[in-house]
Formats: sequence, structure tokens, C-alpha cells
Amino acid sequence: MKSMRLIGSLSCIMLVMAISAVAQPSSSPAPVLDSAGRPLQRGVEYYINPAITDSGGRFTLINRNGSCPFYVGQENVSGLEGLPVIFTPFVEGETVIRENRDFRVAFSAATICVQSTAWKLGEKDPESNRRLIVTGEDQSSRRTANYFRIEKASDGGDIYQISWCPTDVCPTCRFDCGTAGNLVENGKRLLALDAVAQPSSSPAPVLDSAGRPLQRGVEYYINPAITDSGGRFTLIDRNGSCPLYVGQENGSGLEGLPVIFTPFVEGETVIREGRDFRVAFSAATICVQSTAWKLGERDPETKRRLIVTGEDQGSRRAGNYFRIGKASVGGDIYQISWCPTEVCPICKFNCGTVGNLVENGKRLLALDGNVIPVTFERKA
Ligand SMILES: *[C@@H]1O[C@H](CO)[C@@H](O)[C@H](O)[C@H]1NC(C)=O
Ligand SMILES: *[C@@H]1O[C@H](CO)[C@@H](O)[C@H](O)[C@H]1NC(C)=O
Ligand SMILES: *[C@@H]1O[C@H](CO)[C@@H](O)[C@H](O)[C@H]1NC(C)=O
Ligand SMILES: *[C@@H]1O[C@H](CO)[C@@H](O)[C@H](O)[C@H]1NC(C)=O
Repeated sequence: MKSMRLIGSLSCIMLVMAISAVAQPSSSPAPVLDSAGRPLQRGVEYYINPAITDSGGRFTLINRNGSCPFYVGQENVSGLEGLPVIFTPFVEGETVIRENRDFRVAFSAATICVQSTAWKLGEKDPESNRRLIVTGEDQSSRRTANYFRIEKASDGGDIYQISWCPTDVCPTCRFDCGTAGNLVENGKRLLALDAVAQPSSSPAPVLDSAGRPLQRGVEYYINPAITDSGGRFTLIDRNGSCPLYVGQENGSGLEGLPVIFTPFVEGETVIREGRDFRVAFSAATICVQSTAWKLGERDPETKRRLIVTGEDQGSRRAGNYFRIGKASVGGDIYQISWCPTEVCPICKFNCGTVGNLVENGKRLLALDGNVIPVTFERKA
């Protein structure tokens, strides 16, 4: 039997791949890899293990309150047995589990309940306001509640998460998609979506280096949180012609250029985690293009997508929308990614997190590789 390692956190559960993926040349999404670096296969048994020891044990069935159906949850601690699962892709004939593709997933186990052991999106828990994952068959025609997927986490690199967003099953449906995390109830670890759903339902504000929420329309410098990874963010003349690229000063202590954030949501004055915004350098340049960040072309040499400046001419302008998430290192340290699902909730994006690459001594920002943790410094 194989095992898939998972990192659990309060907000989400992430898969850790054993081997980092290279850029995919084909249009088929990359296979999800198990802890030995092999693609997950249809019909094979896998354990799902958290990789962080204090976030529970292997995935298993939970008898929530002494009655059927059982819920999807975790062992209380690592080292316990757990139950293996079997994945069945939605696409007929597909033998491999791929990123962002719907599958059914069921525990490979017999239970005292008559229900199937397939995972199913359950009801909203009235107390936590989170949707639990239960077992059983969705009786609706498309059975959308039985389809889950594995996707790259915004941390980029080799980290994944499990979510419910069955757009392969129903491409024209609008789902209230969610990502699986855990919820502890009476000492039992249950799997639940909607971890970030706070009472207000607003995600936490992103904080600047003085602990204040980032504001719309205010100038901030972006500093790398790790000192040997270049200096402040700035505009880069890549090859003597316009447009300019988004990059970094060569060393710390240099000036850099401030940016201004504009939330996608009208009237929102604060920059929040996981929410889309436009970001532009607050500077005049010799180029006629705007100084807004835009997802650029893939660099043929490194296969990474650069961040350039200019306006996306598409109707939704999705290429101009970025977001900020907490970096896993903790503190008020963040990472920037491109994944504009607020701008287009039904689009399938090849999301990525901002890192850097050095080209002819110039530091350019790029997705699809390393990740630079950053802090935000309000311009005095
Ligand atoms: C147990 O949970 C089910 C829903 O899963 C509910 O219908 C039932 O009333 C609960 N029973 C008790 C004893 O709380
Ligand atoms: C975890 O501990 C709680 C409280 O002791 C218990 O009710 C529950 O059954 C345990 N979970 C598992 C999967 O054994
Ligand atoms: C500079 O880069 C642009 C794309 O950003 C490209 O169109 C142009 O051909 C390049 N010019 C030189 C001199 O390499
Ligand atoms: C960094 O150094 C390279 C090589 O000397 C130079 O071409 C580039 O302009 C420098 N970057 C900045 C932002 O000054």
C-alpha cells in the first residue's frame, strides 16, 4: 500500500509531494504524486497522512454521535491505523488522478452503516458554520456532492490540498467551492470545508510590518522576508525595451518602488488574505504601458511565467489580479500568488505563487518555481 502525506493546519489540509513537479508541457493537468513520487492510480488503496504531527492522524471514518452515517475525519494522533481510500476519476477510462480533476473517493472498508463509504459533501454544522464531509451517495442526478479534487495549494511548489468544486461533473453549475481542513468536535477530528469562514465571513486582513491592515490606495514597499533573496520589489528594464518587468533590487538597502493595491471587490478598503486585487507600482516610467502587474508570458528557457507590467486586454482582466496568502513560516510574513478566482469563480486557472529568477544579473519575479516570502512596509 502506498501513502500520501498530508500537511494539516487549522485552515487547510495539504498534500506534500515527494518529488517536485516540473512544468507540464502537455495540456493534461499534472498527475498527483504519492509519497514515493508515483502518480496516484484509479482503484489503488492509499492512506492519507498528515505530515505535521500535531494536526491529527491518518484519515479514517468517524462515528460522530452514535448513529449512521459515519463522517470523514482523522485518527486523533499519528501512528494509528487509519483507513485507506480509493480514488475513481470522473472521466471514464482515466487511470491516473490529476490535479484539479474530479474524482469519487471512498474508504476501502466495511462498516456497520448501510451507507456507502464514499465521501460526500454534508450539511453545514450549525455551530461552526462549516460544511462537514460525511459518507454516503448523493441521490441527485449528477451526484456532484460525491466528487472531490486535489489541487496545488497557493504555497506553490510541492504542496496540494483537497477540495470540493465539481466543475468537471457540471461545468455550467456555480458551486460554493471549499477546501478541506479539520474541525475538532467532542475530541473527534472531523473533516470540514470553509475553514476561513469567520463569523464575519471576511478573511483576515493582510498586515504590514507594523501590524496594521494594508489599505487600498496607500503606498507600500514589498521587502523579501529572507535577506539573501534580493532586495525590494521594483521595475526592471529586462532587455532595453518596453514593457518593464516586475522584479527586485539586487541587494537589500536599495530604494525600490512602492506599490498601491486596489481590491477587486468594490468598496473594500482593506487588503484581505486570499482576495483578488490589482497592484501597480506608484511610479512614472518611460514606457507607455501602465505600471500594473500582469501575468506575463512563459520564459522559454526556464518555463516559468514572468510578471510584467501592463493592462490585460481580456474582458475580465484576470491577468492583472493577484492575491496574498500567509506564508507557512508564520508571523506577518506572506506570499503573493496569481489565482484570480474572485474575478472568475468558474474559470480554471493554472495558479502559481511568486518567486524569483536571475537573468543576466537581473532579478525578475516569476511563478512556477521557488516562492519568496515577503513583508509589506508602509511608505513613510
Ligand atoms: C446524529 O447526527 C445525525 C446527522 O448526522 C442526526 O440526524 C441525529 O439526530 C444525531 N443524533 C444525535 C443523538 O445527536
Ligand atoms: C478521538 O478521541 C475522542 C475523545 O476521546 C474519541 O471520542 C474519538 O473516538 C477518538 N477518535 C478516533 C478516530 O479514535
Ligand atoms: C525584449 O523583450 C520583448 C518581450 O518582452 C521582446 O518582444 C523583444 O523582442 C526583446 N528584445 C530584445 C532586444 O531581446
Ligand atoms: C542588478 O545587477 C544587474 C547586473 O549588474 C544589472 O543589470 C541590473 O540592472 C541590476 N538591477 C537593478 C534593479 O538595479
